[in-house]
Amino acid sequence: NKGKYEHYMQKEIHEQPESLRTTMRGRLIRGGSCKAKTVLLGGLKDHIKTIRRSRRIVFIGCGTSYNAALAARPIIEELSGVPVTMEIASDLVDRQGPIYREDTAVFVSQSGETADTLLALEYALENGALCVGITNTVGSAIARNTHCGIHINAGCEIGVASTKAYTSQIVVMAMLALAIGDDAISSQARREAIIDCLFDLPNKVREVLKLDQEMKDLAKLLIAEQSLLVFGRGYNFATALEGALKVKEVSLMHSEGILAGEMKHGPLALVDENLPIIVIATHDACFSKQQSVIQQLHARKGRLIVMCSKGDAASVCPGESCRVIEVPQVEDCLQPVVNIIPLQLLAYHLTVQRGHNVDQPRNLAKSVTTQ
Ligand code: M6R
Repeated sequence: NKGKYEHYMQKEIHEQPESLRTTMRGRLIRGGSCKAKTVLLGGLKDHIKTIRRSRRIVFIGCGTSYNAALAARPIIEELSGVPVTMEIASDLVDRQGPIYREDTAVFVSQSGETADTLLALEYALENGALCVGITNTVGSAIARNTHCGIHINAGCEIGVASTKAYTSQIVVMAMLALAIGDDAISSQARREAIIDCLFDLPNKVREVLKLDQEMKDLAKLLIAEQSLLVFGRGYNFATALEGALKVKEVSLMHSEGILAGEMKHGPLALVDENLPIIVIATHDACFSKQQSVIQQLHARKGRLIVMCSKGDAASVCPGESCRVIEVPQVEDCLQPVVNIIPLQLLAYHLTVQRGHNVDQPRNLAKSVTTQ
């Protein structure tokens, strides 16, 4: 049932304050007078020590699920101190890449039925790794065949383009980072700040959803473009990849997510006064580097659309021609949850305006059960 919405994708984008709340329900503990704030992940309680002691955490997934893991990677590394590597499921199987008994392999999948991810799971089980499932489907193959796991609890997602599952996956993995790092006194203040931010995140998401009309107007400007680049780095490299994936998947416009640190190693050659470029430059440790990227793109007459934290527009915008998307600021590791939403809205409106099928894009299936 689409309720008051025209499409499932639109409904699922706007549902995110509630889906995030459901994902966190019962899992965040506020802490009493002398108790610390903490997280409770029932499905992992017997394995958390093993995960903490593992030699490496390997995230495995496809498409949007891979991007969600990439967004969570820095906070998992920071709070756990365990090295995290990323694997696209099909590539791990193609290479028969090394997976060891001392590894924790985390399988991220909305459907829990993706063939490539399932094959990678079989492979990791054969190699003796501890296998953790993060899925949105209770009873799915990945949920059944992993040793332990966390349900995303984002609610049923019908649009082929994953939206609310993505933001809930990031939140689940941020909670995983908090759970793994739970025994370190040195990072307690950081963990508590993240927990406070998680409590407030649905409100921030509600606030960013108000950009709907602005994104509809931006879509009108971009409707006839052939291509769109999205530059991000740090926590928001994943946002760049995921934003570009959304745009190409539903609006059928070529779009590419680019790691801003790689700009001079090739992509800069594409820049001219015609190609639209979104630069994600919200406030975090990479902010000044992104400011410099914006300056360099501007110097080459790049057609810039800058996403920045509220109040930063004047300091990020190099000139009148630059458009700005201002978003609320949250803890750096949760900023990808907020930042993807304007891009989801942009992809949605571009698709409607270009006259394409939003919920069932050409050639795609919701669950990819064949290789
Ligand atoms: O169900 P999964 O999360 O395993 O699916 C993985 C990808 O097929 C999926 O995320 C795909 O990239 C989406 N259509 C993107 O919106």
